[in-house]
Amino acid sequence: MTSALMSSGEKDALRSALSDALGLRAVLSGADTEGYEVDWRGIYHGRALCVVRPEDTQGVATAVKICRAHGVAVVPHGGNTGMVGGAVPDESSTQVVLSLARLNRIRDFDVIDMSMVIEAGVALQTAQEAAAGQDLLFPLTLSSQGSAQIGGILSTNAGGNNTLRYGNARDLVLGLEVVLANGDIWNGLRRLRKDNTGYCLRQLFVGAEGTLGIITAASLKLVPALLSREVALIALPDARSALELLSRFRRYDAEALQAFEYMSGVGIDLVLDLIDGITLPLAARAEHYVLLEVGSSRRDVDLRTMIEAVLGLAFEDGVALDAVLSESEAQRQALWRLREEQAEGQARAGKSIKNDISVPVSKTAEFLDRATAACLAILPALRLAPFGHLGDGNIHFNLVQPEGDATLFVDRSEELIAVVNAIAREYGGSFSAEHGIGQLKRDMLEEWRGGVELDIMARVKAALDPDRMLNPGKLLA
Ligand code: MLT
Ligand code: ZN
Repeated sequence: MTSALMSSGEKDALRSALSDALGLRAVLSGADTEGYEVDWRGIYHGRALCVVRPEDTQGVATAVKICRAHGVAVVPHGGNTGMVGGAVPDESSTQVVLSLARLNRIRDFDVIDMSMVIEAGVALQTAQEAAAGQDLLFPLTLSSQGSAQIGGILSTNAGGNNTLRYGNARDLVLGLEVVLANGDIWNGLRRLRKDNTGYCLRQLFVGAEGTLGIITAASLKLVPALLSREVALIALPDARSALELLSRFRRYDAEALQAFEYMSGVGIDLVLDLIDGITLPLAARAEHYVLLEVGSSRRDVDLRTMIEAVLGLAFEDGVALDAVLSESEAQRQALWRLREEQAEGQARAGKSIKNDISVPVSKTAEFLDRATAACLAILPALRLAPFGHLGDGNIHFNLVQPEGDATLFVDRSEELIAVVNAIAREYGGSFSAEHGIGQLKRDMLEEWRGGVELDIMARVKAALDPDRMLNPGKLLA
């Protein structure tokens, strides 16, 4: 529906209509739009007709209706922490970016229901702090939680570090409020634990990347706050040992295990070498590590003894080489920084390829070994820095350019991605475990899910957004 040929008069008319309806402050143009036109990795650069920043749901609906009347598409934009270019407009300068940042209210809490209703522009960390203020926990955690907003988190069905225990974003949603492509508002902000009344509409919008509707608020599940918590960093001889350790911890107390994160020696070295103020609290560097966290809502459980018991045996069997347990909250955070700075360490090392692979958990070690060998066979100088949510079978099999010149790396990047994907596919895996499709992986979606599955998606899109008003060019071609 978007016109690639809009006159400047038509663009001015749309900007005026938006500011007349929503206020001058709500519409940004010129240099003020720059921050909304590029993704944080600097890979996608677009040009917006303008940026509109409504302050409430009604304002979002009004903006969508006005854009629609002018035949202009809308690109929803949250904290801009996405990995696949899903929140950036195209280069035509005929799309309006709709920022949800001003919808930042916590609307409601219910301690007995263990739920909260919050707006799309609330940052994840703010949501976590709000829940903590009620002695509850909103259990989604991501490295980008200071900036990532709830609307974007739900629209991309983000995963993160605690999926192992609490599920992905979609598992934490009780209800949604959504502005549809025609400007209608669907108020589905129920907080029911059971509600078998037809199609589960909220799940249609979760993970849809703003292509079916714009999430403006969500009713979210909370869980009891953690009163006991332990974190351990463990050095391992090989990837297989990580899986063995995961099974042993699960056998001991599967409930308590809430993060089981793998990190490669290369990834840890990049963090230690390129980011200030981070040290490795182990006697020697290793080739493989796991960071695990266990937690309980009870104060009287001895999680430390549990970790020490499992590790004691693991040392005897050669499954673990060395380990350190946090002694304080500050140390807990310091250990987590080794994991949270993985992406930043890689970014500072030069160009990188992010592969967001998932395979059945039982195949993660085989996948790591085979993908490593296959990539090194293509480019031996490559720095392989896989890390991620091994407990969920989700590995960020990231490749960092060889030191020095990146030309060969860039030239062979497609081949490298293809070889990694092919191995994941052999295991019945996914090419996008938690980062979504956006612009980056649209072709892969066609390749992997083409046929009946993609046809169903296209039909859902056609039913909810027949004129392709919402985030066109993202997710679906
Ligand atoms: C993370 O888990 O830190 C991000 O999803 C991964 C990435 O930067 O590839
Ligand atoms: Zn991740």
